[in-house]
Amino acid sequence: MRAMTYRQYGGPEVLELQTLPMPKVGQNSVLVRICAAALNPADLALQAGHGEPIMDAWFPVIPGWDMAGVVEAVGDGVGEFSPGDKVLAYVRQEVLHYGSYAEFIAVPVDVLVRKPPFLSWAQAAALPLAGLTAHRAVATALDIGPGDTALVHGASGGVGVLAAQLARLRGATVFGTASPGKHAFLASLGITPVAYGPDLADELLRLMPDGFDVALDCAGKGALSTAAGAMKPDARVASIAAFGEDVPMVYARQDIRVLEELAGLCGKHALHVPIAAAFPLEEAAEAQRLLANGAHGSGKIVLEM
Ligand SMILES: NC(=O)c1ccc[n+]([C@@H]2O[C@H](COP(=O)([O-])OP(=O)(O)OC[C@H]3O[C@@H](n4cnc5c(N)ncnc54)[C@H](OP(=O)(O)O)[C@@H]3O)[C@@H](O)[C@H]2O)c1
Repeated sequence: MRAMTYRQYGGPEVLELQTLPMPKVGQNSVLVRICAAALNPADLALQAGHGEPIMDAWFPVIPGWDMAGVVEAVGDGVGEFSPGDKVLAYVRQEVLHYGSYAEFIAVPVDVLVRKPPFLSWAQAAALPLAGLTAHRAVATALDIGPGDTALVHGASGGVGVLAAQLARLRGATVFGTASPGKHAFLASLGITPVAYGPDLADELLRLMPDGFDVALDCAGKGALSTAAGAMKPDARVASIAAFGEDVPMVYARQDIRVLEELAGLCGKHALHVPIAAAFPLEEAAEAQRLLANGAHGSGKIVLEM
């Protein structure tokens, strides 16, 4: 199979297209022909070697933790999926080696979710990591619900746009920070857009004089402190991106029931998964450069095989 790999840590330039043996499929596992894989900032960080203290890399590494595709073959003991089934999954493993920037991947059957029919391959691949992170922050860590006035920092990003929508679906009034070019898009999803910058707290207090009940940081860069003056004294706050800062952190966690719930919301058109750009597998380095420079449109960057 063809796969994008790296044999040493580095930036997008270390990626090489290789032909590798097909993955073997064990008991209770499934071979998936990948139709699309989504990029995540974690791909760049891990590829740069920043995960070295906490994760081993077995080179060559195929990056990528998100995929959607078609079941090609099933291992012994698998009755719930058959060849031809359309699936999506969060495919993070404990060691960096087999990822989703590839034509095939073998995964345990218990991480697979059926793809809602109308979702594109790109959208299906873009859902797992971002959706699991957003849900964990909004529902588990912050328990955002009816009556809450909620602020999502980085609401136009891959995670932020899902978190803002989930907060709204749970009954909150949602404001989201984004650059001005993305405000119309956020407004179309029922999220009140606010430009980030040094005057953010003043602008937020103008919009919500009593202050916000809850804030989720999906941007990092000190966003929570910038807006601290606009929060109620007992406000709940959490971040997915303030690495190294002294704030409660939330991380994506594999949870098949949550992923099924999110896929269900997409299937009912209640949750929109925006795609910023799509590239063929062999242009993965270009896709990573676009993600790294932050100049992409709203939503996720994907590879389509
Ligand atoms: N903890 C976890 O498990 C987990 C999971 C996924 C991601 N993350 C982290 O979360 C962050 C976002 O990930 P992502 O996939 O959503 O990335 P992304 O799609 O690149 O989105 C990042 C967003 O941040 C916005 N932004 C940049 N500077 C900002 C600022 N000062 N204030 C507010 N927004 C700002 C950008 O909006 P504009 O383009 O509108 O400027 C962009 O849409 C990354 O740091 C990533 O590493 C963590």
